[in-house]
Amino acid sequence: MHGFSYKNGSLHCEDVDLTTLADQYGTPLYVYSAGTILDHFQRLDAALGGVEHEVAYAVKANSNLSVLRLLAEKGAGFDIVSGGELFRVIKAGGDPAHCTFAGVGKTRDEIVYAIQQGIYSFNVESEEELRYINQVAGELGVIVPVAVRVNPNVDAKTHKYISTGKSENKFGVDFEAIDGLYDRAARELPNIRLRGLQMHIGSQLTSIDPFIEAVEKVKPLVKRLKERHGIEFWSIGGGIGIIYKGSLASGDVAWWSNQAQDNAPLSIERYGHALVPRLQDLGLKILVEPGRLIVGNAGVLLTRCLYEKKGSAKTFKIVDAGMNDLIRPVLYEGHHEIVPLQEPSSDAKVTVDVVGPICESGDFFCQDRELPDFQPGDVIALMSAGAYGFAMASNYNSRPLPAEILVSGNSSSVIRARQTLDDIIAGETGA
Ligand code: LLP
Repeated sequence: MHGFSYKNGSLHCEDVDLTTLADQYGTPLYVYSAGTILDHFQRLDAALGGVEHEVAYAVKANSNLSVLRLLAEKGAGFDIVSGGELFRVIKAGGDPAHCTFAGVGKTRDEIVYAIQQGIYSFNVESEEELRYINQVAGELGVIVPVAVRVNPNVDAKTHKYISTGKSENKFGVDFEAIDGLYDRAARELPNIRLRGLQMHIGSQLTSIDPFIEAVEKVKPLVKRLKERHGIEFWSIGGGIGIIYKGSLASGDVAWWSNQAQDNAPLSIERYGHALVPRLQDLGLKILVEPGRLIVGNAGVLLTRCLYEKKGSAKTFKIVDAGMNDLIRPVLYEGHHEIVPLQEPSSDAKVTVDVVGPICESGDFFCQDRELPDFQPGDVIALMSAGAYGFAMASNYNSRPLPAEILVSGNSSSVIRARQTLDDIIAGETGA
């Protein structure tokens, strides 16, 4: 669906004019489309309709309480990676009994908190962690549900920093070691219940093939674990990629959505069609843990151009957002489309770097890109910034975190106020 499009020459989020929001709330400003978030969630839910399943939204992608509440109200589960994320889910009205807790380094406090809240499963990343959870559960006098994360050693063919399913990654337990681990756990660890198996091969996958390869490779193992240990669920992880690159053609091309298109090798529907038939005969509950797919193309970061600096080698458009607000370009070579809020009247382009105010050479949003010649004072949108945008933002250079706005139809609400300078120093001695 269309979350963002030009209407009367001005970029809108649903029916709200983004220029109005930028003027009213200032920049940098994150804006999310509730309709797009729900569309993605509901389409994935429908695409998996042929199998018992749960969509457990990966909270790390965007953990704003209002985003979580929106999804909780539609019955989403949640994949969390910290006690802090569990706290957020509960605050947002999510049900801990529909939460899975992933991550290689859970602390005792986090484990105790999650046990007390009654989460659905710990997704365990090592034998050491499994034994520790068993110990803590024993001390609390409870039996705790767990799934081990299998590392299927499948190449996700994505950026090396977001690939997780190869043996050299720190994640999960080697494929070959899983049977033995489950057998030992069943014999030796009385305070855990082997509830499922989990895997996740990487993020921003743009081809269905690695998903199929991983499912086919792990499926016989899952069958064995069901027979021997009575597991009831298999989480096949998240990782469905979104379209970052494309052209925004007068609002008639939903390039930010996941509809099947020429440049969209992977769509929600394709994912369901390919995987559901391969999962149906297992008789297990299938979990998926999408983050980026749900929120990535549902959000933009608005930033105002401050200066144009013409150097001898390059032209820089200096904007008021920095790498502290959106770190993906420098960290993952992430591409975010850049479009002016006022639709350009011609196709004329200039080759520029769009950079922020931070004292780092890595503080850029694009380099040597052909863009419309926007000017100081103009506001531009960094597209597809809904996932791992605000969630990875920091106070580097003592810059306040941006405000966040949620749009639904023609209404908008502030779902996080812009940080103040006092907020930044709160907690410091002398504040
Ligand atoms: N499940 C597990 C166990 C994960 O580690 C992740 C992401 C997900 C689910 C959700 O993956 P998604 O559906 O969003 O691809 N900051 C990076 C992405 C890091 C992903 C980390 N794990 C980026 O901005 O590209």
